[in-house]
Amino acid sequence: MFMKKKLSFFLAVVLTLGFTAASTGCDGNSGSDSGSVNIGVVLPTREEPRWLQDEAKFMEVIGATDYTVEVMFSHGETATEKQNVEALLEKGIQVLIICPQTADAAGPAVEAAKAKGVTVISYDRLIMGTDAVDYYVTFDSVSVGETQGRYLADNASGSGNPLYLYAGAASDNNAFLFFEGAWSVLQPKIADGTFVIKNSSKAAALRDKAELSRDDLAEIIGQISTNWDFNTAKNLAEANMTSASAEDKKHVFVLAPNDGAARAIADVLAVNVGSFVITGQDAEKESVQYVIDGKQSMTVFKDTRTLANDAMDMAIAIIKGDSVSAPADYDNGKKSVPSKQTAVVAVDRDNVKSALIDTGYYDEADFAW
Ligand code: BGC
Repeated sequence: MFMKKKLSFFLAVVLTLGFTAASTGCDGNSGSDSGSVNIGVVLPTREEPRWLQDEAKFMEVIGATDYTVEVMFSHGETATEKQNVEALLEKGIQVLIICPQTADAAGPAVEAAKAKGVTVISYDRLIMGTDAVDYYVTFDSVSVGETQGRYLADNASGSGNPLYLYAGAASDNNAFLFFEGAWSVLQPKIADGTFVIKNSSKAAALRDKAELSRDDLAEIIGQISTNWDFNTAKNLAEANMTSASAEDKKHVFVLAPNDGAARAIADVLAVNVGSFVITGQDAEKESVQYVIDGKQSMTVFKDTRTLANDAMDMAIAIIKGDSVSAPADYDNGKKSVPSKQTAVVAVDRDNVKSALIDTGYYDEADFAW
């Protein structure tokens, strides 16, 4: 399961001037003294490899800075997230880098930070509905969806190709951006009959609408959300396969929102359909192996080295009083948040080595080739 809602006893990690000290507890407390941490980083969960990649990259950046940084995990719980922020505020952080568990529920945590004069950077996922977000550091999430949609469109020919759509959690603004991007590429191919949507009556009813409203997106996501959860994705796919006709199981196309969902759905399809093309996202190691093995068609590589670097550079610029580069804008429903965004790369079997091994992101020896 990649978003299990239970507390787990992982260690919060404290890095102080290049020295690593681990502190205990799922409550987010650490052994640092009050006033001893400059930058606090709060990530959503350790139960998805995606966020462990971010943690590892933060560690690398942190090791090279003179600033004191603490990374904490919220274990999939907004309450733990709030406790983590409070613990970091106690330690005197000047900048908070936070990836919310739930976009609308993180407001009180960041408002508490703002009340103490802390600058808040929303990381990867935008915190919605509050003006207590100063900056947003993110990948270009609309382009993640476009990249997934393009991969499906580029690999389809003829007409009437069965298309199964799956989305992320409705509590995550990114799920909307990913689907919006995918729809922008897929919709013309649905309207012209290349694809036929098989598992969302709402999306099928909107087949001629090029630009979906937030409400349209919410309705579609409500039907096909994996909730970023492995078992939900698996169950949805199994239910879809149970109701599919033999014709609709020959060669199918699948928009899977991320790698965790892709693996869960691909495992179901492998025993149900003749062949399939399926997307993913995050270049998680397990999915990179699936891509190498031909079990997942592609993934979208989001280079977490860049994201962690950008967030840390921004935090350090803020502390030093230097100017901050945030040329993009994202609306969080309360304000337009100055943002820095990073491009993404489509990876399939053809470029997996050049994109992920030659760039030093992963070691060749980590995979069976
Ligand atoms: C992230 C994805 C991730 C998903 C589930 C999204 O907000 O951008 O990279 O796969 O959450 O954790």
